[in-house]
Amino acid sequence: MRRKIAAGNWKMNGLPGSAAEIEALAKAHPDPGCDVIICPPFPLIPAFAALGAPFAIGAQDCHAAEKGAHTGDVSAQLIAAMGAKAVIVGHSERRTDHGETSDLVHDKAVAAQGAGLTAIVCVGETLAEREAGQTLDIVNDQLRGSVPAASTAENLVLAYEPVWAIGSGLVPTNDQIAEVHAALRAELAAHLDPARAEAIRILYGGSVKGSNAGEIFAIANVDGGLVGGASLTAEDFAPIVAAAG
Ligand code: PGA
Repeated sequence: MRRKIAAGNWKMNGLPGSAAEIEALAKAHPDPGCDVIICPPFPLIPAFAALGAPFAIGAQDCHAAEKGAHTGDVSAQLIAAMGAKAVIVGHSERRTDHGETSDLVHDKAVAAQGAGLTAIVCVGETLAEREAGQTLDIVNDQLRGSVPAASTAENLVLAYEPVWAIGSGLVPTNDQIAEVHAALRAELAAHLDPARAEAIRILYGGSVKGSNAGEIFAIANVDGGLVGGASLTAEDFAPIVAAAG
């Protein structure tokens, strides 16, 4: 049985006062029954981790190198030292806004795992790619390129996030989600081995809300969600945590 995950990707949102949302969420879910991971912007990580809520804190990116002359970047080691347990790598907004390739995402995931973090590796097709019938080729290709060979259920989570579903209110059909998640699990088995592939959690992300989370999390091979907009307030995220718990 894979324990479900409710992960919140705050993107470039939140201020120090947003800690109140974490406290309210902890009050609503003192014992969530799933793994909850909140990923705020870097500067909020230490304060959020210090709250002692029953949640893990994660980052949204890390550099592939351990340290060095990389102005503005943050190492996986520092992220771990600040109290985070996970880091998202290869989000489509990074792949698009920052030109990140699967090669680079792979190296970031290796750095994250080397620092003791769980790498949450994102894959997903654009609308044009889906319409061209390329979805499975694209996501499998991203998986092979991005997922380190030494990945295990402890240091890797995969997230399927169709680019066209992110922040758009559009969600694939249950059958479309099931098809991609089954394909990703089979690809993980080929890329790693069947035992690890069976244990690794695969999240769905893209316009997950309280109103659709229960249905989405019940789909075969969906082990929880990576949630953007609906993770920013306790009010919106609490029902999603409940659906995963
Ligand atoms: P969304 O974002 O839930 O706002 O669609 C998901 C994500 O980008 O991780």
